[in-house]
Amino acid sequence: MSQSPRQARPLFCGNWKLFGSLSESLALATGVRDGVAPGPVDVAVAPGFVALASVVAQLKGGPVAVAAQDCHWETKGAFTGEVAAAQLADAGCRYVIVGHSERRQFFGDTDTTVAKKTRAALAAGLSPIICVGEMLAERDAGQALPRVGTQLDAVINEMNEADLLASVIAYEPVWAIGTGRNATPAQAVEVHAFIRGRLTARIGAAARKVRILYGGSVKPDNIASLMSEEEIDGALVGGASLTVESFVKLVKEGTAACLRS
Ligand code: PGA
Repeated sequence: MSQSPRQARPLFCGNWKLFGSLSESLALATGVRDGVAPGPVDVAVAPGFVALASVVAQLKGGPVAVAAQDCHWETKGAFTGEVAAAQLADAGCRYVIVGHSERRQFFGDTDTTVAKKTRAALAAGLSPIICVGEMLAERDAGQALPRVGTQLDAVINEMNEADLLASVIAYEPVWAIGTGRNATPAQAVEVHAFIRGRLTARIGAAARKVRILYGGSVKPDNIASLMSEEEIDGALVGGASLTVESFVKLVKEGTAACLRS
């Protein structure tokens, strides 16, 4: 276990990706809302765009916040198919995921556009959940930390302390996403500590308050070992967030592990 106590309020965010009709999304959101009590952690869900406003209305006043899965960097204009960060804030979102590896792999997101999306999110009053993570070949070549460092620097270089404190970083090794092969707590801690070091170089001791989530095959039965590491401030969860039972169990197990650590 790491030495310094966790100073960031943990966050568990379910990323629903391209799953769920409107009625399925509302049912899942309702189940999560009813299953998690307000407590020492934050909980959020990220439905698809079409369900966002309805899920926001359903979760209003409860312990579960709403995240979007992506945003565009411009506030308005002729950008067919895009959704502006300000529109997401207007719809009631609190967070927006930017730079998810699926966006980087399949939809052309780059370090430069992720930085622009992050700036747009902050300008709109949203908390960006900024995803970074190496591919398997990069890890095997001993390049995990340099790769994560490059992705991170592209985004944080122009951010001040307030921007960073409003942001969430998610370390998601690409080889662990949807594969059932999660990083070991030790592997995650190594990268989280590296990210924390980069943040500390920019904003000093306040870096301990920036939430650094782990993502990649997080399940109810591995969340406790991850959350017993004080460098890990929560999780970005894909597959295990798609049923009420597994996501609520994951949040409960994760919260209990935080309270023990
Ligand atoms: P997974 O996805 O939990 O299904 O591995 C995580 C993510 O892509 O955020």
